[in-house]
Amino acid sequence: MTNHDSPQTPIRWGILGTGAIAHRFMTGLRALPDADVTAVGSRSDATARRFAETWGIPRAHASYADLAADPGVDVVYIATPHNVHHEATLLCLDAGRHVLCEKPLAVNAAEAAAMIEAARRNGRFLMEAMWTRFAPATARIRRLVDEGAIGEVRMVTATIGARMDYDPHGRLFSPHLAGGALLDVGVYPLAFASQFLGGFTDIQAQATKAPTGVDAQVAMAVTGRNQTLGLLGCSIEAPIPRRADIVGTRGSIALTDWYSPTGFVLHRDGADEEVFDFPHHANGFEHEAMEVHRSLRAGRTESPLMSWEESLRIAEALDTVRARIGVSYPADQR
Ligand SMILES: NC(=O)c1ccc[n+]([C@@H]2O[C@H](COP(=O)([O-])OP(=O)(O)OC[C@H]3O[C@@H](n4cnc5c(N)ncnc54)[C@H](OP(=O)(O)O)[C@@H]3O)[C@@H](O)[C@H]2O)c1
Repeated sequence: MTNHDSPQTPIRWGILGTGAIAHRFMTGLRALPDADVTAVGSRSDATARRFAETWGIPRAHASYADLAADPGVDVVYIATPHNVHHEATLLCLDAGRHVLCEKPLAVNAAEAAAMIEAARRNGRFLMEAMWTRFAPATARIRRLVDEGAIGEVRMVTATIGARMDYDPHGRLFSPHLAGGALLDVGVYPLAFASQFLGGFTDIQAQATKAPTGVDAQVAMAVTGRNQTLGLLGCSIEAPIPRRADIVGTRGSIALTDWYSPTGFVLHRDGADEEVFDFPHHANGFEHEAMEVHRSLRAGRTESPLMSWEESLRIAEALDTVRARIGVSYPADQR
């Protein structure tokens, strides 16, 4: 393992899985001068090589196990379908790598708890890649809310959705790949609201289903701490705007894109509205990678911005919603 105390020492990344999000993450990572992507791992030699050539990565491994065993990698970014997160994370942590794992951390809370336990056991960093949390705009909102800019938070509303092509065997609709709107996009409004509601004490939910039996749309009414509520929605069959409002007793904060936030509007009672702008440096994925770098350089095994406790809380919330809407996966039986 490299000593990361010096900011000059590059952090050496490995990419596990070569699908859509792995490419987007690479764009973000390339914005960090102290990130060095040294290896990629794929289920096949051809896809590993193709990804390595596209991004100029020196080593291409034809299995996830070979990537995990690569001593020239400090931290692995796990970019597989949700049902593979648990196995791939354990592989990497047990091989001594740190891990940034795509959201949702796992298919269910039991898997998430086992992953956290593996990080603890191995003394390695583990974080769920809840990228919206690390955006400077989101950080500024948290600070404004903590300072009482909108009084006491009472309600958070947040929605997200896109019309995805229906493929019964694809990642988004197949129960075998833990498909469905909730785990793919619904995890985001839950995680967003949790920051301002202090977690959830009750969750109600309604869903409509795709022909494969997974959820195509979910509407959630959540109760938070201190008399707070959230109204959250997600869809993989309709382009629902990515709007959010955080409403307090003395004002509100409105975002027209809370998922990839580059700004927001603050309304304080009796005052003119204030507009805040926080452009991304690259495509927005750089912020979560920066948090990994900060954490590794500080010798932390978890991030206070997306702690193990918070990831577990959100995994439990997802389990609760799935129980309410009647969605289960083969992975739940493992
Ligand atoms: N943060 C975000 O905004 C965001 C956006 C999209 C997705 N995600 C998350 O990222 C993860 C991957 O999503 P994606 O859209 O990149 O998926 P994708 O395009 O389908 O790619 C997933 C990759 O995982 C690997 N894989 C391993 N086992 C697989 C299996 N049984 N079936 C298919 N692929 C398998 C494949 O890479 P190899 O062939 O190289 O092994 C594949 O290319 C998901 O957990 C998702 O929630 C996050």
